[in-house]
This record gives sequence, C-alpha cells and structure tokens, in this order.
Amino acid sequence: MADNKMWGGRFEQGTAADMEAYSESVSFDWRLYAEDIRGSQAHAKMLAEQGFLTSEEAETICSGLDRVKAEIEAGNFEWKVGHEDVHMNIESRLTEIIGPLGGKLHTARSRNDQVCLDFRLHVAARLEDWRSRLAALVAAFKDGASENRNVILPGCTHFQPAQPVSLAHHLLAYCQMFRRDFERVDQCLVRTRISPLGAAALAGTTHPVNPAAVAGHLGLEGVFANSMDAVSDRDFAVEAVFCGSLIMTHLSRFCEEIIIWANPNFGFVKLPDAYSTGSSIMPQKKNPDACEIMRGKTARVNGSLVALLTLLKGLPLAYNRDMQEDKEPFFDADRTVASSLGIMEGMLRQLEFVPERMAETVQRGFLNATELADYLAASGVPFREAHHITGAAVAYAEKHGKALEELSLEELRQFSSRIGEDVFAVLDYRAAVERRTSSGGTGPDSVSAQIKGLEAWLNSVA
Ligand code: ARG
Repeated sequence: MADNKMWGGRFEQGTAADMEAYSESVSFDWRLYAEDIRGSQAHAKMLAEQGFLTSEEAETICSGLDRVKAEIEAGNFEWKVGHEDVHMNIESRLTEIIGPLGGKLHTARSRNDQVCLDFRLHVAARLEDWRSRLAALVAAFKDGASENRNVILPGCTHFQPAQPVSLAHHLLAYCQMFRRDFERVDQCLVRTRISPLGAAALAGTTHPVNPAAVAGHLGLEGVFANSMDAVSDRDFAVEAVFCGSLIMTHLSRFCEEIIIWANPNFGFVKLPDAYSTGSSIMPQKKNPDACEIMRGKTARVNGSLVALLTLLKGLPLAYNRDMQEDKEPFFDADRTVASSLGIMEGMLRQLEFVPERMAETVQRGFLNATELADYLAASGVPFREAHHITGAAVAYAEKHGKALEELSLEELRQFSSRIGEDVFAVLDYRAAVERRTSSGGTGPDSVSAQIKGLEAWLNSVA
C-alpha cells in the first residue's frame, strides 16, 4: 500500500515492483551513511540552537543516529529497497528507535539539500585521500630522482632520440605533474566544502534556519548563496572526476614509458615481481600488467567524467531525479584513482633502473648532434648554417656506421674548418647534460634545485 512510503500521503496505489527496483539508489548510496548521519546531527544541533527543538530532543536524535551508525558498522542494519535511498533508510530506522521525534529531524530540510550535503562531504573526504596519495607519489618520484642524478638516458621528441637527459630530470617532470594535480585537488576541495543545507527543496524555507551554523558544525568552508543553485550544483563532482581524469592521464603516460622501457629491446627497467605477471604459455615472459591495467582504467575514469557532464547538460533548474545518477560514476572513479595512485607509488619504489642499458642507447641516435651545431654557432657560424653542416656530418657518420665522436678530427673538418680538437669534449654525452645549466634544464644544478624545491613543498603540505 501507498502509506508505507515516507512520501506516500497522496498516493493510492503502491509502487510497481519493477519501478521500485529501477528507482532505488540505496544499493549504492548506502556508502554515504556516515556523511548522512553527520549532516543530520549538525542539522539537529542547529534546529536546537534556533529554538526549534529542545536540547534534549536534539540529543535524543543525535544519540539515536549514533546507534543507527553503530548498527550499520556492525553489519546489523537492514537496508530496505522500499525506502529508496540511504537518507530514508536511516531516518526510518531512527524513528523506529526514538519514536515520532525522529519525524522532526526533517524540518526545514529536503532530501534535495540533504543528498547534496552528503555527497559534498563524501567527495571532500575522498579528495583529501587523493591529496595525500599524490604527495606520497611525488615523494617517490623525487626519491627516484635523488638516487639517479648521474644516470643519463636518451630524451626523446616524437619518440625519436633527441638529446641526452638525466634520469633524475625525467622523473622530476612527473613530480611537477602530480604536484599540479595535488594543487588542483586542493582548489576543488575549497569549492566542494560548501554546505547547501538550508536551501530545502529549492526555494529556501520559512523556518528560521542558520546555514552558517550547520556549516560550522561540519567544519565546512562556506554556505550556498542561492538555494536553487545549492540543490542543483554538481560542479564539485564533475571537477573532482576531472581532477581524477587528469591524474589518470599522468599516471598513464608514465605507465606507457615503463611498458616501453621494460621491453627487452630497451631494457631500461626491470619490473618488480610484485607488480608484474607471467604468461601461461610463454615461460620467458614478464608482463607489465599493472601499467597496462592502469592505462586501461584511465579510459574508465574519462568515461565517468563524460557521464557526469552529459548527465547535467540538459537539466533545467533545480533538482531533477536524474541527479541520482551522479554517484556511481564518482564512486567508480574514486576507486580507480585512489588504487592507481597507491599501486604506482608501490611499483615505482621497487622499479629497478638499468643505467648501463640507458648509457648504451645514449651512444646511438646522434644525441650529441645539437652539441656540434651549438659549438659551431658559438664560433660565429649562423645557427641555420651550423645546423646544415651538422646534418651533413651526421649523414656521413651514419653511412660509415660511426657515432659523431668516433669520427676523426680530419673527417669532421671536411664539414667546417671551424672544428677543432676541443670539439670532442663538447660531443661527450655526459657533458651535454652537465652543460645544460639553464634554469629548469637537465643540468645537475637545476636538478638539485628542483629536488630542493620539491622537498620544501612536500614539507609544507605534510
Ligand atoms: N536518492 C536521491 C538522489 O540521489 C535523493 C534525493 C531525492 N530527492 C527527491 N526529491 N526525490 O538524488
């Protein structure tokens, strides 16, 4: 019958069984139970402060809610699909425990502002977790950089060998990406930590509520300015998942590099056993599955982002039931982002670099060609001409199966009489790295400055 629903007063017929299954959200939004209870306790406290409840009534409600929470956490709570969602499941159990007083809790509140508050509290807590995982990952990359200051490898553009760089510098590039991700999450948190409570269904309320007090009880940064926006704004969730998408994109780029580096034709890294798998048919194989899965899961988080954007794009103000579809994409993205950050940190800390292989590869591919061109330019040859001369020298060396530094002085001087004996010091690969002293470049002083800067930053966010 209709009256077993909390909203059933005007209904004559019960809900069709398939409609009930179709519209329920408790099977996934039960995850918001702790936030729902915290939010309700703050609301009850405010109602008492405003003189709407006596302080005994508010205390009875709050301790009743504590009991509900304990039941949920002990696994003794019976979630009922008939009560639709987490909010009504909790409220109806509260009323069973404390009696009709439970019915006063929903005064000056709607599920529309309630669900938004719960979701905001949840997203904020998860963003805080991402933030600490991001800091831990930056620390892991930074530590990898500190240990590999003297290792050089081919830096690529177009994935073709370009110029030698230090492995430290390469790893520090990822520190910058994940540091920006951290900051982005931080900024998203500011916009997430806004209390919508007091917006009620959409238009505000006739009761003398105090939204700022509720926000204060919950430790939130601010309150809504417009009740219609408050109940229909899901920007915080979109933004959070976007942060997640970009985190996954950065992770996926490094995954791709590890996959390439682990290929024996490169052999730049040895994968930790703990993060790779074997083949059931090819005994020699050690596969970079963690990286492949992470690269694959990036697609999944991007899917959640598109789901949320698409969900909202056609919605008129204010709350629409469509919005119930906002939670699963976030939950899924959160699970993926948090676990991926943890896995990457663990894997990176055990990843073994192979400096000898990197050094061997540096000597192939004419990574010191720019050095020769710069050498000529420094002696007064216009750079375009220097570039052309060097190109001719590279073609000659390639034809003779040699590297530039393996040509004799006479051979080199065929291309320009400006070339002298001192060219060989310039063609040295390690020197090419060390001479790049420009700020933010791959030279050792810049690498040390980057590491120092990151250490200071990590201390400031710890
Ligand atoms: N389960 C709903 C959601 O997630 C809660 C809000 C329902 N509000 C309503 N007016 N039916 O969006």
